[in-house]
Parts: sequence; C-alpha cells; structure tokens
Amino acid sequence: MTDQSSQDRVLIFDTTLRDGEQSPGATMTHAEKIEIAGLLDEMGVDVIEAGFPIASEGDFAAVAEISRLSKNSVICGLARAQLGDIDRCWEAVKHAPQPRIHTFIGTSPLHRAIPNLTKDEMADRIHETVSHARNLCDNVQWSPMDATRTELDYLYRVVEIAIKAGATTINIPDTVGYTAPRESAELIRKLLEHVPGADEIIFATHCHNDLGMATANSLAAVEAGARQIECTINGLGERAGNTALEEVVMAMRVRNDIMPYQTKIDATKIMNISRRVAAVSGFAVQFNKAIVGKNAFAHESGIHQDGMLKNAETFEIMRPEDVGLSETNIVMGKHSGRAALRSKLEDLGFELGDNQLKDVFVRFKELADRKKEIYEDDLIALMRTTTDPE
Ligand code: KIV
Ligand code: ZN
Repeated sequence: MTDQSSQDRVLIFDTTLRDGEQSPGATMTHAEKIEIAGLLDEMGVDVIEAGFPIASEGDFAAVAEISRLSKNSVICGLARAQLGDIDRCWEAVKHAPQPRIHTFIGTSPLHRAIPNLTKDEMADRIHETVSHARNLCDNVQWSPMDATRTELDYLYRVVEIAIKAGATTINIPDTVGYTAPRESAELIRKLLEHVPGADEIIFATHCHNDLGMATANSLAAVEAGARQIECTINGLGERAGNTALEEVVMAMRVRNDIMPYQTKIDATKIMNISRRVAAVSGFAVQFNKAIVGKNAFAHESGIHQDGMLKNAETFEIMRPEDVGLSETNIVMGKHSGRAALRSKLEDLGFELGDNQLKDVFVRFKELADRKKEIYEDDLIALMRTTTDPE
C-alpha cells in the first residue's frame, strides 16, 4: 500500500447533471436531480456541475435548490459567454456555501465561425465575460470549447486573457473526443509552460469518449499537470459520453504505483450511485462496462472460477467491496467447472461426496447447454432429483 498523504490531490468535477443530462433522452426530473446531487456530495465529489441555469426554468430551479442543499461540494452552473447567461447562473448558484460560475465559448475555427467573431472580437468577449463573472463570484471556471482543435497560439492567447480576467480554473475540453493520450498530455504541458500565470490556476481536463479514449486522455492530462478531472457517473454524456468518474477514480487507486494521485471520493459509494443514475436517466449500463457493469466482477469460465475460489487476486485487480458490491458473482453456466459447482452447492447447504458431485456435474452440464445461466433454484431442483450413490 502506497503512502498517499504526500500525493497530489486531483479534484473530481462531476457533470452528470449538466453534460450527462444533455445526452438525448437522459432528462431527469427535479426530484431525481436533487437526489443525485445529494449522493455526489456524500461520495466526496469536489465540484458538482448542477446544470445550465439559462437553459430552462427547470434547470434554474434545480441548480438553485442543489445550491441551497449542498454541504461539502462546490456547486457550479454553466453559462455561455454572455452577460445575461452569467447573471442568471449567478442567481442560481449564489445560494451555495461554495458557488462557482463556469463560462465557456467555442474557440476553434469551426466554433468561431458560428457567432462569426474574429479572433480579436472573441478575445475581447472572453475578457469581458470572465471579468463580469469574477465580479460576481470568487470562483470562476473558463472553458475554450473545442480546445483540442483550436490553434495553439490562439489557445495560449485566450487562456492568458481568461487568467488575467480572474478565472481560477481553466478547463481544456476535448469536446468531440478527438484527442489521443500523448497529445492530451502535451497540450497541458505546453499550456503550463507557455501561458503567463498558468501556475497560479488549476487546469482541468474534460474529455468526451467518441473514440473510446476519454479515460486515457484524462489520466494523461493529469500526469502532465492537470489537477481537475471532469467526468460523469457511468460515463453518461452526449454521443459516446464523457469520461466515467468510476474509471478515473479506480484507475488512480488501483494503479497508484504509477499514478500517485489522490481524490476525496469514497469509492464504496460508486455502485449505488451508478445504479441510481442508470435508473433515473433510463440509460442502462452495458454489461461489460469497466467497474460498474453487471459482469465487471462476474466469472463463468471454469479456470477463472477455480482460480477465484483459491485466490481472488488471480482474476480480479480490485475487490468488489472496494466499489460497494457485496461479493464477486460466480455465474453458473456451461463454462463452469466442478470446483465452482461444489462451492455453490455448499453455499446452498448441500455437502457432496466425490461420486455424487460427478453425477450432479454431468446433469448440470446437460442443463447448462440448454440454459444460458443456471440459477440457485435450478441447482436446488437438480439436487432434488439426485440420488446419493456413496
Ligand atoms: O464538451 C464541452 O466542450 C463542454 C463545455 C461546455 C465545457 O461540455
Ligand atoms: Zn462536454
């Protein structure tokens, strides 16, 4: 076990209620948002992005109530680079003991073309809006949307403007999941090296999963100096989703030998919040999803089950209890071996001699060939029709 007391802290910024809820079809009710925010606060999330207050009356009301109820987490609202958006955001988050305004604008050539602003006009807008936010709130986050496709010299320029205008966190979004780990790290390293004042603020990484690299990109950014990871429960988010909170937290924990960073997250609360987010968003978790999938701690093959029964470390790199699951799931099916069958039957109260086990095992395999999964009731039924040949 590594000594974590002297390790760098990485802040966990959860945006399940904002970027996560932006996935088509994932809309949550007011009460559901309050519940999820409470669970995030309890599990030790540093910053909760509670919504986009200008987007609707409902979003405003949810952010305001989450702010009032918050205990430990900073509560953040999102605002476009417009004074009215920022005012509305402040109206919602100002009730929190620790409020944050997060304002953003798309800085890549593709995104600059939408409001049809020149580089200079956009730079002025950034200065004006970040300064405005900072006059309202001491804690201001600024994001150059589509940062990973923004010209590097322009990115340096606008990040410097935002820092000078009072931003305390600079978030670097990979808005379309385009970057790769080496590039993600290099970008943070270059920003820290070239932007005056960069050492006085926190750099955040905000990755999308379009190419399945969000977790790797986030961790690479941390290794290069980012100290806030933006993520969602179950990786919920637009298109292929955002970085999954449970993945980055457990990766830094399980591989703390090569990623010596600490978070404040109580990982034993992961499974419960994962299930609640799946239930309220209506987005089921894929079976083989890392950490929280139904099969993440399940074993069916005979070799794996035998290994697990002798020493769980043979096929598990973390314990199910570490993420809030009561135990490993030994799934009985056609790939299961004799040792697993004996152990399962013993759990059900059946002590078998070797000959009896041989007989039951043959009939178990016949049944498993017909049924995908064998449940406890199937095993009990099998035992009822078993004679004791010993
Ligand atoms: O992906 C993105 O660029 C965003 C910003 C609003 C931060 O979600
Ligand atoms: Zn995003």
